[in-house]
Amino acid sequence: MSHSPTIKAYIASLVKEAVEEVLSDTSQAMGADYARQPLVVANWKMNISLAEIYSFVEKLEVPAEIRGSVAICPPFPYLFPLKGCLEKFQKGYVQLGAQNLHWKDFGAHTGEVSASMLAEAGSHYVLVGHSERREAGETDEIVRLKLKQAVSSGLIPILCVGESQGQRQIGKTTEVVRNQVLEALEGLEGCRDLVIAYEPVWAIGTGLSATAEQAQAVHEMIRGTIADGWGAEFAEVVPILYGGSVKPDNAESFAAQPDIDGALVGGASLNATDFSAIVQRFERG
Ligand code: PGA
Repeated sequence: MSHSPTIKAYIASLVKEAVEEVLSDTSQAMGADYARQPLVVANWKMNISLAEIYSFVEKLEVPAEIRGSVAICPPFPYLFPLKGCLEKFQKGYVQLGAQNLHWKDFGAHTGEVSASMLAEAGSHYVLVGHSERREAGETDEIVRLKLKQAVSSGLIPILCVGESQGQRQIGKTTEVVRNQVLEALEGLEGCRDLVIAYEPVWAIGTGLSATAEQAQAVHEMIRGTIADGWGAEFAEVVPILYGGSVKPDNAESFAAQPDIDGALVGGASLNATDFSAIVQRFERG
């Protein structure tokens, strides 16, 4: 069967158009999906024993076809043993994170731990500027130095920001959180891997979580701040986690918000069943 050149050209143009449409849909879907996959991070603070870690990992359930990732930040002495335990999960699905770092490479800093030590112990992430550290005297300048040190050492910083109860009551949430972000990221260039955790101080460990709408409003403001200072493209890919009394029964409402990409979980992350449930909620969100 033969077709005239005009019909052939017409059919070819239809096929080309259809292929282009499919390719563009696929890349948009991949872009949207790839841009910000869920990240759920456990912050064990100064809790747990080695024996409890073994039983935690045994009970931890991570979906086989996980979209996002999970990280656990144990106390320093447990980084290395926990790294071994996490090898049972598929590569990269459950990462290790540290809770703090020093901003210098090495030296006479008794009791401190450097970024390269954390990396050698298997850390992928490091919390920077958690409110419990800010309360213990960490200034915005120290937070900035630590964040830069993390980035230049190849660790992914999880920058924690959040207002106090009093600051929220007098309507200063936006100002406080925006300033914390700007102070911490000042002078930061060429960073491609950054996570931000919005943790209202009044919601940490109190059982009083922010509502999903309150959290979404702050997350949107943080993303806007990043877009203004470092470009919309970067802002689109920075995961912004919510932290502050996240539990299995409220995780779903946070997961449903467009600018909430995961959670930083304290108390509920000490229980493997609760933590696994929170991971599942964000997978679906
Ligand atoms: P919480 O702690 O979940 O116990 O409120 C969160 C955090 O401090 O990171």
